[in-house]
Amino acid sequence: MQAQIEQIKKSFHEKLGKLSTSEELEKLRVEYLGKKGEFTQILRSMGSLTAEERPQMGKLVNEAKAELEEEINKLKTSLKEKKMNEKLESEIIDISLPGDKTPMGGKHPLMITMEKIEQIFLEMGFTIEEGPEVELDYYNFEALNIPKDHPARGEQDTFYINDHVVLRTQTSPVQIRTIEQQKPPIKMISPGKVYRSDDVDATHSPIFYQIEGLVIDKGITFGDLKGTLEQFVKKLYGDNIETKFRPHHFPFTEPSAEMDGTCFVCEGAGCKVCKGEGWMELLGCGMVHPEVLRKGGIDPEVYSGFAFGFGLDRMTMQKFGIEDIRLLYESDMRFLKQFK
Ligand code: DAH
Repeated sequence: MQAQIEQIKKSFHEKLGKLSTSEELEKLRVEYLGKKGEFTQILRSMGSLTAEERPQMGKLVNEAKAELEEEINKLKTSLKEKKMNEKLESEIIDISLPGDKTPMGGKHPLMITMEKIEQIFLEMGFTIEEGPEVELDYYNFEALNIPKDHPARGEQDTFYINDHVVLRTQTSPVQIRTIEQQKPPIKMISPGKVYRSDDVDATHSPIFYQIEGLVIDKGITFGDLKGTLEQFVKKLYGDNIETKFRPHHFPFTEPSAEMDGTCFVCEGAGCKVCKGEGWMELLGCGMVHPEVLRKGGIDPEVYSGFAFGFGLDRMTMQKFGIEDIRLLYESDMRFLKQFK
């Protein structure tokens, strides 16, 4: 039996020498020291020994087991260390290498212009309001004094969702939504996307941006309109810009006007940007039509106001010298990268 123990130890050592992973080691442990292991077999067969031999043999077996166990534990620790070292080695970082450059995004030119304009109006005490892009015909037309048969509807090629719902063709419906919800004094701008079923070319896009403005209080006059808009344009383009107002017609304002500004590039001399005119058309505006105030629940005998609206795309194109509106919507990185 003693020889048997020596034999077991020998084969154990042979196998131990060939091991390289902790999983293999665990298998070996079970094979030799487990419940069904080699030593358990020996202990079971001790029934055939004499009473004096038995404790002696038991001692030998236990000693051998302890020896094997110790060797297993030693190897276990060193395998663990080896694995950890391998992991550390694989994670070595060469801190002298140059770092990866993180590509940084930039603002879209439309947003650059929009934020600048918002900032100017916020400084003048305006609030910023929002309205839905899928809009009721009522707000987009009817409440703005553009009934079903009005010729102005024909000018705005409208995407109809159904008889009562459209994609808004202008930001003007936010005027009505605001006067329905707020009491004067009101002083707001509302930037946003608008939609018209125009064919795409260098100056037309079925989606574009407008910024609407509305001021309502007691005693607001056309003088307030002129002063506010002149101030805005000077802050946007510079103090040298001159403005002029031409009579115009919009169904929701009376009187109505269009405002031009001297070209911010040539300051009126005539150049490529203003197409030789010296002037650039900037925006539409007027005194809010009494009918519009009434529709929004405001008494036109007590309150008056002015409104204005303009295309953000055109202003952005003028500001950055962009000649094709499609560039603003095509997400071409070669174009967008120039505005970082
Ligand atoms: N909604 C007009 C358009 O799309 C622009 C406009 C003109 C808005 C005059 C106004 C305004 O508020 O008073 O052409």
